[in-house]
Amino acid sequence: MTNENQMNSDYYKKIFWELRIEIPKDKADLVEEFNLKSGALGFHEILYEEDKIQNIENAVQYYYFSFEFPIKAYIVMMLALLKIENCPYIIQETKYENFLKNMKETFRSFEIAKHFWIVPEWEAEELVPKYSKEDHFVILRPAFAFGTGLHETTKLMIEMLTDNKYGVYENDRILDMGTGSGILSIAALELNAHEAVGVDIDTLSVESANENLKLNLRAKNFSGKAFFYKDNFSFYHSYYKNRPKPDLFISNIFPEAFMANADILKDILSQTQRVILSGIVEDRAEEFEKWLTQIAPQRKFTSKNLRGWFVFFSNYEIN
Ligand SMILES: C[S@@+](CC[C@H](N)C(=O)[O-])C[C@H]1O[C@@H](n2cnc3c(N)ncnc32)[C@H](O)[C@@H]1O
Repeated sequence: MTNENQMNSDYYKKIFWELRIEIPKDKADLVEEFNLKSGALGFHEILYEEDKIQNIENAVQYYYFSFEFPIKAYIVMMLALLKIENCPYIIQETKYENFLKNMKETFRSFEIAKHFWIVPEWEAEELVPKYSKEDHFVILRPAFAFGTGLHETTKLMIEMLTDNKYGVYENDRILDMGTGSGILSIAALELNAHEAVGVDIDTLSVESANENLKLNLRAKNFSGKAFFYKDNFSFYHSYYKNRPKPDLFISNIFPEAFMANADILKDILSQTQRVILSGIVEDRAEEFEKWLTQIAPQRKFTSKNLRGWFVFFSNYEIN
């Protein structure tokens, strides 16, 4: 496992592929899931563009891929596999600094859950002093990592983290598998966790999570600590071999990632008091629930949904 502590200083100048694609709205989630699974490093969707008449039938999405990624061959294959026709796209080179400039124009603070705010770095100085004691916040600098809080799966996660039965308890140890921008681990610290460990297979995500942690540490003192590692589900066995096991396991990934790691997840589900699993699209929810009851028959899962996305959660103490 590697602890990536430094955001590469070349990062801002590094060249990435930017894919701008217009997709029929009913296929937008499918394309997003497919691209993120296939290696897209970042994603954002434009809800409206100034001075342009938007075709309301289509979603306009931007994806970012590393410069080594065979993007031109990939896009043809992706559209054929997903059976999507006549969908205009543009591929061009871009730098992270351009992406950030774009985000600065569109990304504003918002209340992701009751009294819980997501604040972009550029609004923090003005907004943070205005929050009351009741309010929580996470400061973010968007990067090519999933987790700005705009996606339903992350919103459901933060709602659950603030839940007083299933969410974060004071002094919890938390494992956040698929940490992306680190948003959930930092939120857990904000809710007084003792330790949040975020793991991701993607280097840029680990770098981004460390940057976001630094931004938040500049604004406040947490009682707990967060650590980010580049690794995968097997991290669970290596890291916790000689350490107390996590009290709460959180993971917002796609069903395939959970299913591909069934053996490790089985151990996590039998050894962890509370579990929250997000990233389950409506069409797969029933199948996923069945699968969960097969691999963890001893647990009772409850679910909640938001605009076509499901989160499953369980607490041994309650069920
Ligand atoms: C949907 S994002 C979630 C990001 C953030 N936790 C959130 O809730 O917004 C899923 C993340 O899981 C990571 N990921 C995918 N498969 C993984 C695996 N097998 N092990 C660890 N991380 C994985 C991806 O790189 C991505 O950053």
